[in-house]
Amino acid sequence: MLRTGWRRGMIAVALLGLGSIVVTAGGAADRPAGWRPVATGVARADEHDLPAGPIRERHELMEEIGKQAKALNGALKSGDTAGVAPPAEAIARLAPRIVKLFPEGSTDPKSRAKPEIWQKFDQFEALAGQLETSSAALAVGAKAGADVQALAAKVMRTCKGCHENFRTPKKDEQ
Ligand code: HEC
Repeated sequence: MLRTGWRRGMIAVALLGLGSIVVTAGGAADRPAGWRPVATGVARADEHDLPAGPIRERHELMEEIGKQAKALNGALKSGDTAGVAPPAEAIARLAPRIVKLFPEGSTDPKSRAKPEIWQKFDQFEALAGQLETSSAALAVGAKAGADVQALAAKVMRTCKGCHENFRTPKKDEQ
């Protein structure tokens, strides 16, 4: 009896946890394309149990960049060229923050940053620079009503290029 009650309690806790994840995900998806990121710098303590400091901060930065990329793709798919500009601008603003959040030796078993980052830091830095310039160019193109497909593909190739070289793969991704 006691045991069952305890188990029920655990299940309820687990479900509550799941619920909050769903709510968080939904909230992000519902944001309008023009939504601007607000970097609060306040990290949630449960943020995948990542250590406070650059490792947790870059996780949050990448999550934010990921959200903007999603908004960007959504606008692209619906043919909303003007709607591509705000998320592209947001990525261009966020990209310069990448490099500083990878100080040498900032590794952790929960981080997917590869040691190659610090062996080929010039290459890593160049890719972060490419993310900034390609997303800025995309924003300009989107505002001018240009064909943004090729410009957007260039941005996405930068994400992929960096992840392929400098991020350890996760089974449920890519
Ligand atoms: C200069 C390299 C670089 C570029 C460019 C880059 N990323 Fe990343 N990204 C990383 C690294 C390294 C990690 C893993 C960091 C860690 O685990 O400590 C990462 C992690 C992520 C994560 C996972 C966050 C988490 O911890 O759950 C997402 C999402 C992400 N990136 C999205 C993007 C998108 C979208 C773009 C392009 C618009 C992009 N990134 C461009 C290097 C890069």
